[in-house]
Amino acid sequence: MLTLKEQIAGYEQEINTFSPSGAADLEAFRIKFLGAKGIVKMIFGEMKNVPVDQKKEAGQLLNAFKVLAESRFEQFKSLEDSVDKKESREDLSLPGTPLPMGTRHPLRVTEQKIVSIFEKLGFSVATGPEIEDDWHNFTSLNMPENHTARDMQDTFYVQTNPDWVLRTHTSSVQARILETQQLPVRVICPGRVYRNETISARAHCFFHQCEGLYVDKNVSFADLKQTLYYFVTEMFGEGTKVRFRPSYFPFTEPSAEMDISCTVCGGKGCNLCKHTGWVEILGCGMVHPNMLRNFGIDPEVYSGFAFGMGVERITQIRYQVNDLRLYSQNDVRFLRQFQGI
Ligand code: PHE
Repeated sequence: MLTLKEQIAGYEQEINTFSPSGAADLEAFRIKFLGAKGIVKMIFGEMKNVPVDQKKEAGQLLNAFKVLAESRFEQFKSLEDSVDKKESREDLSLPGTPLPMGTRHPLRVTEQKIVSIFEKLGFSVATGPEIEDDWHNFTSLNMPENHTARDMQDTFYVQTNPDWVLRTHTSSVQARILETQQLPVRVICPGRVYRNETISARAHCFFHQCEGLYVDKNVSFADLKQTLYYFVTEMFGEGTKVRFRPSYFPFTEPSAEMDISCTVCGGKGCNLCKHTGWVEILGCGMVHPNMLRNFGIDPEVYSGFAFGMGVERITQIRYQVNDLRLYSQNDVRFLRQFQGI
């Protein structure tokens, strides 16, 4: 009869030369050697027949045999597992698939720039509804019914309710702020506005505005000018000249329009400034006492300034976009030009 030692040596050879050709082979190996009725168990059972003085040596032999069978199994098992997993066949050194970079819309970029400049001056952002009632869009802004100033803006009316309009300016948000907030207020109101204009390179039925409002005690026209000077320097750079021209808005008195020196030709004359050297960028003025009164504010105690600019206009000046329609045509060739700005 073979001794235990000889038996083990025979199995060890079998184990060392074992090379499975698949998962089923490996499982057969496991059952044969490591299973509940496997060879390792069986040989351990032989221990009881080993004479006492040889037990220690036999025990070491058996343990080494068990470890060999187990480690051989584990070795093939981990190989088998990685073959099962698909990613192991992928070449991890391949460069990744490039993801095309998205582009922020130039109007949004400009809007955020405008807002961030005024935020530095302590203005906070306010928004409001695009479908507005007559009071917030017109009447409270010193434009009662039949006021001729309403004709300055061709208005879209909501058919089912003649009291509702698509807001023609974000001054409606300023009205809502005066209605609900404690003084002093200092807000910048970005948003989309609508006017019934025939769409062309120079006009559109919707566009975007950023309007500002500051109401407190002792606010003067000098404060308005200083605020706008700061804005122009931050937006268009040091050395940009500014001029104010008297104008008319029903909700401000006095009112002005503000021009900057042409950023394209530096004042020499070009298409952007229509050879005048100046481009108009916003309307502004001191809040009309009637408007303050409409919100229960005493114009003897409080005063304020307001201004409003078109985001498309500022974007046109910054990037020389000469056709308003480009902003809403979703042409990726146009949008991609603004990648990374
Ligand atoms: N609301 C005016 C417009 O849409 C702009 C403006 C705002 C003018 C505030 C003066 C003061 O044209």
